Amino acid sequence: MIVSARLTFSAAHRLDNPKFDAEWNRRTFDKCNNPGGHGHNYILQVSVRGKIDPESGMVIDLAKLKEIMRERIVDRVDHRNLNADVDFLGGINPTAENLARAFWQQLAPAITQGSLYEIMLQETEKNSVVYRGEDEES
Ligand code: NI
Repeated sequence: MIVSARLTFSAAHRLDNPKFDAEWNRRTFDKCNNPGGHGHNYILQVSVRGKIDPESGMVIDLAKLKEIMRERIVDRVDHRNLNADVDFLGGINPTAENLARAFWQQLAPAITQGSLYEIMLQETEKNSVVYRGEDEES
């Protein structure tokens, strides 16, 4: 059984890889490399996989899951500059892919009822990524 909760946040970012020169970054990230950055209204959907608890009838209380999402992610990224303001994103180029992976690392240890199954991060109506912990150890 897989259950999901969804929250939104707004944040600014600029895609840039300091290992490469300005020309490479412009070519690779195009307008997402604009020096002043830009913003998105993100949608974060977190899915947990587990068995239905016979007493509660739930895999995990979705109110509790949202509380974990707020505490671990949303309250730390909402209305922030993702390149500069968020401790757990230090040194990370904030593409949707890298954000989803960093969010996974923040959330996985906090979910003790069932286990983290999937993170979907929507950056725009046309762009989203799904991460299922593929690159994680364990
Ligand atoms: Ni962007």
